[in-house]
Amino acid sequence: MSQRLGGRRALVTGAASGIGRATAVRLAADGAAVGVNYVGDRTPAADVVATIGPRATAIEADVAQEAAVQAMFERAEEAMGGPIDLLVNNAGVEAPYELTDMPLEEWQRVLSVNLTGPFLCSRELVRRLPDQVGHAAIVNVSSVHEVIPWPSFSHYCASKGGLKLFGQTIARELAPRGIRVVQVAPGAILTPINQQLIEDPEKRREQEEQIPLGRLGEPEEIASAIAWLSSPEAEYVTGATLFVDGGMTLYPRFV
Ligand code: BGC
Repeated sequence: MSQRLGGRRALVTGAASGIGRATAVRLAADGAAVGVNYVGDRTPAADVVATIGPRATAIEADVAQEAAVQAMFERAEEAMGGPIDLLVNNAGVEAPYELTDMPLEEWQRVLSVNLTGPFLCSRELVRRLPDQVGHAAIVNVSSVHEVIPWPSFSHYCASKGGLKLFGQTIARELAPRGIRVVQVAPGAILTPINQQLIEDPEKRREQEEQIPLGRLGEPEEIASAIAWLSSPEAEYVTGATLFVDGGMTLYPRFV
């Protein structure tokens, strides 16, 4: 495995499972030291750290809480010996509610984790970086739902569409400092967030019919896109979204 991220200090939010876990493992395999952010039960994050080895550190924080985010960066710097230069804003939540049934608390929960979280983490990263930084990148894990409207998930779609424009805007602000900001937009991936879909053969078949490549994606297929976008090989890419979705955004039902 190449060491194209050798010397980098990465922080992956929501890294205890799914895409976050696969990303932490992949960034470490490519040479980075990795902060494995989690919230709640420590066991799954400890397992990620055990899988990676001494280059990984588990750090608890609710990304929607300002003080917790500041403390997380403090802890990550201590553990890795310097400022973070690679942030993967991956933590995200979703649950279906039609508009008229949507409790305000649920709207706020989804916006807080999926959008305020990336804002707080990105701001903290940039505040702590020196003016002259060799390589630094923020990767926002958005979704095909940064462009596809999804009934019963208006809060989720608002958060992901918002994340896309947040990312593009700070990409412009941060370009003069050499900090790149990109989005990776997964389609339907084999992760715990999709457990119900994965276990229901009928629903899974219907979903697969909407994917030109005919299958759900693996978390590692998202992780490899994130690793490439984070690396010096993608040094001329900023503001862009890379869709890793088996073609889900290609209007598969339009003939
Ligand atoms: C969601 C998944 C969903 C996929 C495609 C993702 O952003 O997290 O639950 O299967 O989009 O709709």
